[in-house]
Amino acid sequence: MFRDITTLLKDPVGFRITITELVNRYSGMKIDLIAGIEARGFIVGSALAYQLGLGFVPIRKKGKLPAETVGHDYELEYGADRLEMHIDAISKGDRILLVDDLIATGGTAGAACKLIESIGGKIVECCFVIDLPDLGGRSRLEKQGHKVFALCEFEGD
Ligand code: PRP
Ligand code: MG
Repeated sequence: MFRDITTLLKDPVGFRITITELVNRYSGMKIDLIAGIEARGFIVGSALAYQLGLGFVPIRKKGKLPAETVGHDYELEYGADRLEMHIDAISKGDRILLVDDLIATGGTAGAACKLIESIGGKIVECCFVIDLPDLGGRSRLEKQGHKVFALCEFEGD
């Protein structure tokens, strides 16, 4: 079973409810910036940043960003990949909300957390639309000391 948010995004009511739920959760929290993970994290993260009146920082796959970057390599099921962000994208002590569409093994989000922390960011929470708890990503991030929130979970995947 491949879980995917494209049908949710296509539905104007579903998309709005998704973002509104997240706005309600985060509007009272002290957050300086939203960081979204390429590619699907850009969609949810930028809509949320817009509604919260916050700036958005892209965390991209290797070789995509034009200025000086920092990177973090991480293992995939088959092979390895690398996430990068601009070295000056966040300032030391900035409070960052990390956003992606889905957490499975947590490899991607874990790498993004390490990247943010390597340039001095503080991660307020890691936020997802979907959690697949059987794949262990949430508990992996929590063991690394991060707070994790997901709007829904699918078990048995
Ligand atoms: C998917 C999904 C998450 C990641 C979750 O992205 O959008 O970013 O996998 O998996 P994990 O928790 O096991 O790391 P994918 O790398 O397929 O790319 P995309 O977002 O660019 O489509
Ligand atoms: Mg992704």
